[in-house]
Amino acid sequence: MNRFDARVAVVTGGASGIGLETAARLVAEGAAVALVDFDEANAERAAAQLGAQGGRVKAYAVDVTDEGSIRAAYAAVIAEFGRLDVVVNSAGIAARGTLDETEFEEWRRVLDVDLSSIYLSARMSVPHFRRNGGGAIVNIASIAGMFGVVNVAYVAAKGGVIALTRQLANELAADNIRVNAISPGFVVTALNMELRAQGAEERWAGRIPLGRYAKPREIAAACAFLASDDASYMTGENLVIDGGLSAVLRPDPVPAPYACMEYGTR
Ligand SMILES: NC(=O)c1ccc[n+]([C@@H]2O[C@H](COP(=O)([O-])OP(=O)(O)OC[C@H]3O[C@@H](n4cnc5c(N)ncnc54)[C@H](O)[C@@H]3O)[C@@H](O)[C@H]2O)c1
Repeated sequence: MNRFDARVAVVTGGASGIGLETAARLVAEGAAVALVDFDEANAERAAAQLGAQGGRVKAYAVDVTDEGSIRAAYAAVIAEFGRLDVVVNSAGIAARGTLDETEFEEWRRVLDVDLSSIYLSARMSVPHFRRNGGGAIVNIASIAGMFGVVNVAYVAAKGGVIALTRQLANELAADNIRVNAISPGFVVTALNMELRAQGAEERWAGRIPLGRYAKPREIAAACAFLASDDASYMTGENLVIDGGLSAVLRPDPVPAPYACMEYGTR
């Protein structure tokens, strides 16, 4: 008996990185998975790969900032799979820039993709959860939502994700819908590929107690836990997975001139 046998999961951002590894983990534990991502080619490729491993997986090419598309995607998932048990909201973009460097258009884009998409996903998924008698939502936030770093829009969006998670947990508990967040530190994904190519991982390694970036599967394992009945008494939590980075106060300065500017790429 697997933890997700007969369960149906939607994973936004499921074509890459943390979303893809989470989809793989859920499939391995018995779930049918809908990969929701606007990168159609990678989503189709991932669906084919996971399908070849025996999973029931379908790709949906959707921009998570588009209300109509998200609504249609959830309707299509229900038509295809018949029910909805888990939503993992992993679609996201990184952005660098201080207040002075961030134009309003960029601010709005980051807030749309990283925060408003989670509101939309909840709006469109909750009616389906209610029909099933409950479910679990896992939102991928970031430690950037807990501390001031230089990326003004990203920090605001991710802080919003943590706050929205708590609010939804409170609102939806009566419907037996649990809502939790995960705040990763640095994870090896496409999101920070350019900065890693410039040596960011090596520069940060000394400041991270575990001495390295996370692998996406180390975040996926926690996603699966929060989405499963093993976490049946957890809701409104923000699970920090950062190799100890936020647990210690280090007197040595962040490697200049990079500082927290290294948090992601545009
Ligand atoms: N990589 C890290 O160090 C790190 C750290 C903390 C938090 N996060 C968060 O983890 C989540 C996943 O990021 P990742 O690191 O796996 O990056 P990634 O780039 O590998 O994956 C992100 C996925 O989201 C999709 N996406 C982006 N905008 C979209 C849109 N408008 N509609 C639909 N899909 C869209 C992309 O196509 C991509 O497949 C993000 O929310 C990110 O902010 C990442």
